[in-house]
Amino acid sequence: MNFDFKAVPKTHFAEGGSAKLADAVKALGFSKPFIVTDKGILQHNLLEPALDSLTLAGLSCSIFSDVQADPPEDNVIASVELARQNGCDGVIGFGGGSSMDVAKLVAALMSGDQLLQQMYGVNQITTSRVPLIQVPTTAGTGSEATCVSIVTTGESSKAGVVSDVLFADTIILDPVLTLGLPPHITAATGIDAMVHAIEAFTSKRLKNPISDMLALKALSLISSSIERAVENGGDLNARSNMLLGAMFPGQAFANAPVGAVHALAYPLGGIFHIPHGLSNSLVLPHVLRFNAPQAEHLYTQLLPAILPTSSVVTARSNSSNGENINAAEQLAEYFSTLAKQLGLETTLREVGVAETALEALAEQSMLQERLLINNPRTVSYDDALCIYQQAY
Ligand SMILES: NC(=O)c1ccc[n+]([C@@H]2O[C@H](COP(=O)([O-])OP(=O)(O)OC[C@H]3O[C@@H](n4cnc5c(N)ncnc54)[C@H](O)[C@@H]3O)[C@@H](O)[C@H]2O)c1
Ligand SMILES: [Fe+2]
Repeated sequence: MNFDFKAVPKTHFAEGGSAKLADAVKALGFSKPFIVTDKGILQHNLLEPALDSLTLAGLSCSIFSDVQADPPEDNVIASVELARQNGCDGVIGFGGGSSMDVAKLVAALMSGDQLLQQMYGVNQITTSRVPLIQVPTTAGTGSEATCVSIVTTGESSKAGVVSDVLFADTIILDPVLTLGLPPHITAATGIDAMVHAIEAFTSKRLKNPISDMLALKALSLISSSIERAVENGGDLNARSNMLLGAMFPGQAFANAPVGAVHALAYPLGGIFHIPHGLSNSLVLPHVLRFNAPQAEHLYTQLLPAILPTSSVVTARSNSSNGENINAAEQLAEYFSTLAKQLGLETTLREVGVAETALEALAEQSMLQERLLINNPRTVSYDDALCIYQQAY
């Protein structure tokens, strides 16, 4: 067996840990932090403890707070310009996946040696970056732990920059920041994390024992906590499990990349602006069934991590008429039921997708070659269309 496993070198987990931001900045030796965040984070006063710690330490920072969900290229460019104007020498991503993804690119673009357009794809970054700290406020994307940044290019398409350069120096995991995350964002981002774990575990190319271990642990943490976190956002134990349960699969899929669920979810975000986690949730059960012929043995290994602790579906190996129910089907049923229970829409129709758009979605999904090559079963245009029709 041969494999490489790469990860962010330092993770600091603490309730209230964001109030120690200045320590992390000083440890990395920079003095003019540039914070990348969004308006929602400011409105919820989530930045305050972190800003207080910088002020106390005598560090003056600049803030870009205009990150939009599914960030467009303009967001990245405007952010880098502000960071340069203010002479910043290190970057802090503070928010959900959107803010952290912009922060990564800002850190890599600061030197000015390369344009964003030259960075898209895998291993295209040729420049170094300034110091980078990531502080997630959602428990879902795992972006804090990945070397991936997703940008909305043009009107509706999304493209990824994948490079080891984008691994941060330090992650601060502070579950207190996630206590006020509204139920629908908690639910959707939590399912996104579960999808990362499942797709890393079934990744055709780069799956390895470390990514497998992280995926299994994440699935058990999230499946045992997601209902509690959605029903009672103030449950700190559930929030802690969710935050770790999102970071672990980030580490896993940074090494064993995700597949068809994400390839089919991205066009839903790009064209219809459906939140990323919800897009995943909408196609997940259908992709699980589609992948069954190639991935059934892997889904069987995932079942014990997901089902024993869940009240949603009772694990069962036999149907009422005695026939075996395969693991893919059990997982598909589990996720459909879980989504309903968590208050998420379960069909494309419900989220306003027109039936006439399914062909365009299937065409767009075929462009996600970077992801489709990791899927355990080859996905053709007709397969993708069929999956969207089933999800409709
Ligand atoms: N880089 C990666 O590895 C990776 C992986 C998966 C997804 N993504 C990308 O991440 C993005 C989605 O990120 P996301 O799902 O974390 O959401 P997000 O960053 O787009 O934020 C969604 C909303 O949640 C609000 N919010 C965030 N934290 C909050 C909190 N604690 N309390 C209240 N409101 C809060 C934000 O203000 C925003 O309005 C997409 O662009 C997706 O493509 C990246
Ligand atoms: Fe995702």
